[in-house]
Amino acid sequence: MDTYRIGVVAGDGIGPEVIREAMKVLNTAAELDGSFRFEFTEYPWGCEYYLRTGEMMPQDGIETLSQYDAILLGAVGDPSVPDHISLRDLLLRIRHDFDQYINLRPVKLLHGAPCPLKDVSPEDINMTFIRENSEGEYSGSGAWLYPNSPQEVVIQNGVFSRKGTERVIRYAYELAKKEGKTLTSISKGNALNYSMVFWDQIFAEVGKDYPEVKTYSLLVDAASMFMVKNPKRFEIVVASNLFGDILTDLGAAISGGMGLAAGANLNPERKYPSMFEPIHGSAPDIKGKGIANPFAAIWSAAQMLDFFGHEDWGARVVDAIETMLVNRTSLTPDQGGSASTSECGDALCALLREQSK
Ligand code: NAD
Ligand code: IPM
Ligand code: MN
Repeated sequence: MDTYRIGVVAGDGIGPEVIREAMKVLNTAAELDGSFRFEFTEYPWGCEYYLRTGEMMPQDGIETLSQYDAILLGAVGDPSVPDHISLRDLLLRIRHDFDQYINLRPVKLLHGAPCPLKDVSPEDINMTFIRENSEGEYSGSGAWLYPNSPQEVVIQNGVFSRKGTERVIRYAYELAKKEGKTLTSISKGNALNYSMVFWDQIFAEVGKDYPEVKTYSLLVDAASMFMVKNPKRFEIVVASNLFGDILTDLGAAISGGMGLAAGANLNPERKYPSMFEPIHGSAPDIKGKGIANPFAAIWSAAQMLDFFGHEDWGARVVDAIETMLVNRTSLTPDQGGSASTSECGDALCALLREQSK
């Protein structure tokens, strides 16, 4: 029996509410399969922890997490702590220190999920975003000079290394080749004359190794427009850290909402643990109400099953979400239902059990 040891950082707001359901689903899949099991260890890190201790996680937090096979994370952020402290010291720190340079975010409209676009069917929205996740606009490099003076200047640098840019673009080409799909690169070379000209150049260079992959290169403003007007043209998409962040919220909006948007932060070499988390935040507006949609966290857990080589179970979990959306059973209020977070998670586990009879 394989045991997967998972470090759990449920975090703030609705994080703990949705992560509880993701763990339920992982345990159910393991129990039904019988050949593997999960061992979860929870860490109470986040904004409450910060208010008590002055740190988002202990000094040796990264070392502690490094012993796990994967990390399951809920959400980080609370109005009581400045976002640039809470997010940089916990979520972004984990992504960076574990070199989780691939942020893999499916943007797929499931049958039964709401879509605000006209004349669009599930077949029209089926993309995989590969977001650079270790540097770029998120490098944290910069300066704040002469604060509170008339000469005040702030500098926020985008850092694009050859290694960092090549590896994410190569990953995207490999995926496009494996899946026989087109690859779209998103950039902004017309205005960002260093970083994005470099990005485009590397996209073309790496592409020489993949003559079979059909490619497109779009400016980020035009790409935003096409995601709304013609989402079908996107299959595999590769983008920098910030562009990928923004476009995947747009992707969530056209494929069922934040409650359905999943993500995986991968260290493909498996030198460090990868981390699975929904792309939504801590949703302080609905925190503690028990109405958060757990599907995004559950879909992220399905990505974890894929990552451990249990693609059959990953697919079964996503299929179960789709079945619930189609049958409109036990959905949370954001999907037009009246179920609580835990009723929704319980119903999904019941469906998995029923389907494996
Ligand atoms: P958010 O994603 O938390 O919320 C945006 C809107 O979507 C809210 O109306 C919220 O109620 C709704 N929503 C989000 N997830 C939902 C779910 N599962 N079910 C139903 N409705 C859901 O974004 P925000 O309000 O911009 O950010 C809130 C906090 O979360 C901030 O501190 C922000 O920095 C942080 N944040 C953290 C992460 C993360 O930890 N990965 C991601 C994004 C934002
Ligand atoms: C996301 C979030 C984070 C990001 C924030 C909270 C730092 O928006 O995971 O999409 O920008 O990466
Ligand atoms: Mn985001």
